[in-house]
Amino acid sequence: MPRTIDRSHVDGPKNADIERFSAHRQRAERELERLRMRAPSRVANASRNAQAGWDRRRRWAAARGALWDFLAPALDDGARVAIVGAGNGDDLPLRRIARRASEVALIDIDPRAAEGARRRLGRAERRKVEVIGHDVTRGGADAVVLAALPEAADLHHLTGRRHSPPPCDPLPGAPYDLVVGDLFYSQLLYPALVDLGVDADRREATLAAHGPSLTQAVLARLHASAPRVVHVHDPLAWWDGHEQPVALADILAAAASDGPAAALALAARGGGPHESDPRAALANLGISPAATTLWRWPFAAGVDYLACATLA
Ligand SMILES: C[S@@+](CC[C@H](N)C(=O)[O-])C[C@H]1O[C@@H](n2cnc3c(N)ncnc32)[C@H](O)[C@@H]1O
Repeated sequence: MPRTIDRSHVDGPKNADIERFSAHRQRAERELERLRMRAPSRVANASRNAQAGWDRRRRWAAARGALWDFLAPALDDGARVAIVGAGNGDDLPLRRIARRASEVALIDIDPRAAEGARRRLGRAERRKVEVIGHDVTRGGADAVVLAALPEAADLHHLTGRRHSPPPCDPLPGAPYDLVVGDLFYSQLLYPALVDLGVDADRREATLAAHGPSLTQAVLARLHASAPRVVHVHDPLAWWDGHEQPVALADILAAAASDGPAAALALAARGGGPHESDPRAALANLGISPAATTLWRWPFAAGVDYLACATLA
């Protein structure tokens, strides 16, 4: 007669362990939910930074080189530099910047990611680099995102935030000689709107209504902090199922043959985060670009972005 031998007490977790684990997990989920309602932008950006793949540094080497080639002529020996949106630093030629600069401030709403970028440097460069945890919208992005929730009216007691553009005061640590705004513009509102489950129509309406003024307010802060600012943004992306009316290769070819203005006119035919375009904000503020360049940002396998750097 077959015998059933119960070895679960020897080989597998006990019921009590499973219950403890599941209670722990529920507590963690409740805590994450609480944080998400308190600081949606920080939680959304930190979770994306934490998911960065191990191969990014190798994959993004050419993008780091392109950024260095563009900003090196604007970076004087001994300059004080701030980099907003430094994140994991995978797209930043941080070692080269820190060698030439006297001080570098990595400013990000997610300081843990920037700490990681700082730790990877050699001792001499690390000594010059400081991490500043700071939301460049000063809570403005969170207020917009929370107001987009259907239950927004009930949340005022929780956030206590007014829904108004942030002040245009300088960045912490200013004045700097050079500020780099690094690919954070499209991340001010979108990730938190997605993570809070705001539906696509409401998301689009919120981005259209608040993206331009928020971008302009942040951009004004960057320009209030240094005489030279390099803005890096991502006008378009391509992946399977997210086709564009124009190919990345054609945009880069137009940039090489006819210049960046012609290439950006081509890119404008595609669907991208136009509401957070720093070049539109520059135009509104009456600031003219001094130089522009474009490169391919190979974000992940099968996902390409167009990156655009503007010196103003
Ligand atoms: C797409 S990443 C830029 C790539 C990054 N330099 C890297 O190499 O990992 C955008 C960065 O902007 C930061 N960010 C988003 N919203 C911000 C805000 N309101 N204030 C400051 N940083 C913000 C994010 O935390 C993230 O690190």
